[in-house]
Amino acid sequence: MRRLLITGGAGFIGANFVHHWLQHYPDDRVVVLDALTYAGNVRNLEQIRQRAELRFVQGDIADTPLVESLLRDERLDTLVHFAAESHVDRSIHGPDAFVQTNIIGTHSLLKAARKVWLEEKLVERHRFHHVSTDEVYGSLSAADPAFTETTPYAPNSPYSASKAASDHLVRAYHHTYNLNVTTSNCSNNYGPFHFPEKLIPLIIVNILQGKPLPIYGDGKNVRDWLHVSDHCRGIELVINKGVPGEVYNIGGGAEAENIHLVKTLCHVVDELFASESTLKQRFPDAPAVHGPPSSSLLTYVKDRPGHDRRYAIDCSKIESELGYRAQVTLESGLRNTVQWYLANENWWRAVMDGSYRQWLARQY
Ligand code: NAD
Ligand code: TYD
Repeated sequence: MRRLLITGGAGFIGANFVHHWLQHYPDDRVVVLDALTYAGNVRNLEQIRQRAELRFVQGDIADTPLVESLLRDERLDTLVHFAAESHVDRSIHGPDAFVQTNIIGTHSLLKAARKVWLEEKLVERHRFHHVSTDEVYGSLSAADPAFTETTPYAPNSPYSASKAASDHLVRAYHHTYNLNVTTSNCSNNYGPFHFPEKLIPLIIVNILQGKPLPIYGDGKNVRDWLHVSDHCRGIELVINKGVPGEVYNIGGGAEAENIHLVKTLCHVVDELFASESTLKQRFPDAPAVHGPPSSSLLTYVKDRPGHDRRYAIDCSKIESELGYRAQVTLESGLRNTVQWYLANENWWRAVMDGSYRQWLARQY
């Protein structure tokens, strides 16, 4: 039985992971520490909020005494670190928050873990798992081989640079202090609870509202798409079977150009509107209501500064050493994701309204 601290557990991937973990390990203790920034939403934990095993704490990972007291008082032995500023575009406009949370915040967690686990020796075994990104490896051209765990770091945005710095700190705490750490670097996630500022959820909610679908540059940038459920299973494997000090890449095996991905989403929405008559009443501004395809909303806009051309993940290490396989195909994952946003209109309308989010937080 484990006792886990999950940072950022009210965000997109963290919340999916909390659901995943409690479904598979119903007796484990799970403490979520989340500052509830614009990206955090306690509603993501709504279906499990009554579970006695779950405790939600609103707080900052940079608050080292708070983290120490949670590790100590709850006798936690596993820390899974998702909390971060995570959006590249925001990092371009305001890098400070990224340095603060992703670097200083991660270091605060490492200091707390070192104190309670290594100095006070409060638990018999411990694990610090750090969730990172493939963006630390930089950008690939079309002909380059995919990123492996030994690809040299070359972060290009303030976001990826701050994540790279955090990866180095995690590594150093293993090398210097012998903290039991593992790190996973994954590709672009998608699925339920994804905040509608990232490409896939933004495109879905914009189609439904009849708003333009912004395509940066020529739309030919390539990302590898990883369904969040596959990512959660990958992290679970690393926590259970991964070797301390090791890094594991987790990918979806689904590279796609942005323009192809967006057109696929348009097609999926159009098909669903054609087969479900109630959708036209619920979303009267969607193009499908008036006739033109959703792709009529495609709008090429100015490129993102320093826009990385291509990311691709070689996940043969986690496949051969830990038995990982991505299970969700891009086609089925996109369809399920569109269906989730159709079924959860209240969720996405609410998360786009900050005042509602703050009100909700006070109910917990
Ligand atoms: P997210 O932005 O949806 O959620 C981040 C969560 O962290 C939010 O709940 C937020 O309130 C919380 N948080 C932010 N600052 C905090 C602080 N100082 N103290 C406590 N909590 C704080 O992010 P996500 O997409 O779920 O990403 C989770 C992790 O996975 C991040 O570390 C990110 O770098 C990494 N990652 C994400 C992707 C992706 O495609 N989303 C890909 C690779 C890696
Ligand atoms: P994003 O979801 O922001 O993830 P990341 O930048 O971490 O890969 O963007 C995915 C891709 O989609 C990226 O190449 C930028 C592009 N993009 C657009 O073309 N339009 C948009 O409105 C957004 C948010 C992203």
